[in-house]
This record gives sequence, C-alpha cells and structure tokens, in this order.
Amino acid sequence: MQVEKISPFLEEKDIRSRVRELAHEIAAVFEDELTVIGLLKGSFMFMADLMRAMHRTPLHLTVDFMKVSSYGTGTESSGEVRLVKDIGFAIEKRNVLIVDDILDSGHSLSMVIRHLEGHRPKRLKTCVLLDKPERRQVSIRADFVGFEIPNAFVVGYGLDFDEHYRELPYIGILET
Ligand code: IMP
Ligand code: MG
Repeated sequence: MQVEKISPFLEEKDIRSRVRELAHEIAAVFEDELTVIGLLKGSFMFMADLMRAMHRTPLHLTVDFMKVSSYGTGTESSGEVRLVKDIGFAIEKRNVLIVDDILDSGHSLSMVIRHLEGHRPKRLKTCVLLDKPERRQVSIRADFVGFEIPNAFVVGYGLDFDEHYRELPYIGILET
C-alpha cells in the first residue's frame, strides 16, 4: 500500500537515454576490460541497465557486488559505515568501476573506495546515477554522474524509502 506521496521527477525515457550515454563515457575511458562492482541494494536496477548498455561497447565485463550499511535512521546517514558483503574475487591489477545509486553524504562511497584501493586495482573509478552535492559531508566526487539533483529524498529505480518503492521504473520525489 502506497501511503507516501511521490511526485514524478525523472521519467523512464530520460533515465534510459542518460544510462546509454554513461555506458559510452565509461567505455571511452576504460577501452578494454572492466570489473563492475555494484553496491547493494540501491544500485541493482541502474547496474542492470548500465551493463546491458555497456554490452553495446567494446568493453569486456565482469561483475560483482558489495554491500555496506550505514548506521542511521530514516533519511539520514550517521557516517559510520560497515562492510556487510565483500567482493568475491581478486581485482588486483584490474580496472574497476564502483556503481552506486546515489551520492549523498559521501560516507558510503568513500569507505568503499578506501576498502577497494587496498586490493590494488589497476584503476578505480566511480559511477553514480544521482548526485546530491549539497548534502556532502565528505569531500568526494564521482567520476561518472548520471544526474545532479537538488536536496530532495528520491525513490524508485532501485532507491528505497524504508525498503519500499525500489521497483518503480521511474524516479520520484518523496514528499514529506
Ligand atoms: P551516503 O553514504 O550518505 O552518500 O549515502 C549513500 C546511500 O544512502 C545511497 O546508496 C542510498 O542507499 C542512500 N540514500 C541517500 N540519499 C537517498 C535518497 O534520496 N533516496 C534513497 N536513498 C538515498
Ligand atoms: Mg544504497
């Protein structure tokens, strides 16, 4: 049952065309092999579409997932990030792209970067579908950004509010 009010923000077709552009931007930088590491759960839908779009580029891909969780409640991150699931194979001397749904305070992504740097990849870059620069608490920028958005809480296309709305094919603003 949907109880919150959700206002349309990014339509399916806008997301689709930006994801295709991102795939080509990424392919232009890495050119050859790439291990794509998605952060669960928020990145799952973006990751699937991005991988399908990258299939149309010359990149040779491998995939893995990681999960981190930040302590905190509702819509605020506490800054304390815990590793819940690590990658399953060696990335030493490999090109790695970390994929996340949204860059908010920056705590999660900076923890993941620090962790993966320890595995000595050849190159490590980051891609987020959404970026809320106003919310940043840690100085960090993603290498590839789908859309820069204002400070609002968004749901859909993998992003949740209290584990709901991940299945929406579009992105909406949760009205409070
Ligand atoms: P950060 O560590 O504060 O950058 O948090 C990043 C994580 O918080 C994302 O991967 C999301 O899971 C979650 N998050 C941040 N902003 C939103 C939002 O607007 N909607 C849904 N989830 C969000
Ligand atoms: Mg997340």
